[in-house]
Amino acid sequence: MSWLFSLPTEVVFGEGSAAELPGHIERLGRKALLVTDAGLLDQPFLRKLREQVEWVDVFAEVQPNPTVANVDELAARAAGAAGAEVLVAVGGGSVMDCAKAAAALVCNEGESIRPYHSEGARLNGARLPLIAVPTTAGTGSEVTPFAVLNDERKGIKGPMAHPSLYPTRAVVDPDLSASMPRGVTACTGLDALSHALEGYWSRHHQPICDLFAIEAGQRIFAALPKALENPGDRTARAEMAYAALLAGMAFQLPKNAMVHACSFPLSNRYHLPHGAACAFTLAAAVRFNAPVLGGRLETFAAACGFADVEGMAQAIRTLQRQGGLPCTLAEAGIALADIPGLVAESFHPLMANNPREVTPPDLERLYRSLALYGTSPQFPPEMSGAGPGAPL
Ligand SMILES: NC(=O)c1ccc[n+]([C@@H]2O[C@H](COP(=O)([O-])OP(=O)(O)OC[C@H]3O[C@@H](n4cnc5c(N)ncnc54)[C@H](O)[C@@H]3O)[C@@H](O)[C@H]2O)c1
Ligand SMILES: [Fe+2]
Repeated sequence: MSWLFSLPTEVVFGEGSAAELPGHIERLGRKALLVTDAGLLDQPFLRKLREQVEWVDVFAEVQPNPTVANVDELAARAAGAAGAEVLVAVGGGSVMDCAKAAAALVCNEGESIRPYHSEGARLNGARLPLIAVPTTAGTGSEVTPFAVLNDERKGIKGPMAHPSLYPTRAVVDPDLSASMPRGVTACTGLDALSHALEGYWSRHHQPICDLFAIEAGQRIFAALPKALENPGDRTARAEMAYAALLAGMAFQLPKNAMVHACSFPLSNRYHLPHGAACAFTLAAAVRFNAPVLGGRLETFAAACGFADVEGMAQAIRTLQRQGGLPCTLAEAGIALADIPGLVAESFHPLMANNPREVTPPDLERLYRSLALYGTSPQFPPEMSGAGPGAPL
């Protein structure tokens, strides 16, 4: 057994902890710039925060699936007249990723993040201090060294990774997530579950991250149905915020695998939100990977209260249904004729992290199996058995 664990981000967790943000900010710099998105500006917690702190600027132009142009514009604003000393990102993964990349760009050569995102340029390690305040319970971006950016000019969405992308501090206040609509709750919750499972089955998995992953999985399977059923369930929201944080810690070193590799073209081509794109192949990936994991996925499933791995796969499909997420090719807007193109674009480097080698015919079979799944929340019998043509 040989491994390295580290997490440079300081984490503060608790209901109401956002009230302490002015103190956290003061300790990191005098000139603070708030980063958020337009949809959040009117949330009561943001109105309050805007009054509590004397911001040098407020950047609310982050788009869902943040773009290279968003990052470049934010970095220019932070480095320009504002002369920001600290960035405070209040929002979901989109806001946090945009702020993380911009905080680094300000301290690096050049005016665009593009060379660092997709052209092999290496960040120098310097960045502005950054506080990440998640308002969704999903990405774990508050504790990861990744920023997922969409380069519209090149037509690619993908992650960049560097230790300087870890936020300085994460302030996780579960109460901020209570206003998420049901679809966002479902997407982000299943994104967190994908992180737990992918971190756990990654070729680079390690014991401490495994613990986080199992703990996250247990909490998500128990709390996500409750948060979907009753958005005001404060306990379920707290469990989900904690689980998403744990899941972020579970994959930040081992990294993701086939589910996230497949998610990029699903988001690029069919505009599925990130969590819906991950959820789309998650149950199939559970079935595909289980046989090579030497009983580890059975352990994970049992810890989450399932009789077997198949029970866990079915529960994932049920959660997708409960959250109103697409489960079939037709529901995702994917034609059977699109499958070869989709498969060809799915071989992102993260695929190499998958514990079982994935070939193009494997993925074709996986996508074809998703054509079969009907609208019933019950898993159809032809999907659950072994035998010729059995789904992945
Ligand atoms: N850096 C990482 O480690 C990492 C990991 C996974 C995903 N990601 C990336 O994160 C992005 C997705 O982030 P996300 O899933 O958190 O969604 P998001 O940040 O794109 O937000 C989705 C929508 O929900 C709204 N919203 C957020 N919080 C809300 C709240 N409390 N109440 C009401 N509305 C709210 C936002 O305004 C937005 O319209 C994707 O680009 C994905 O690739 C990054
Ligand atoms: Fe993700």
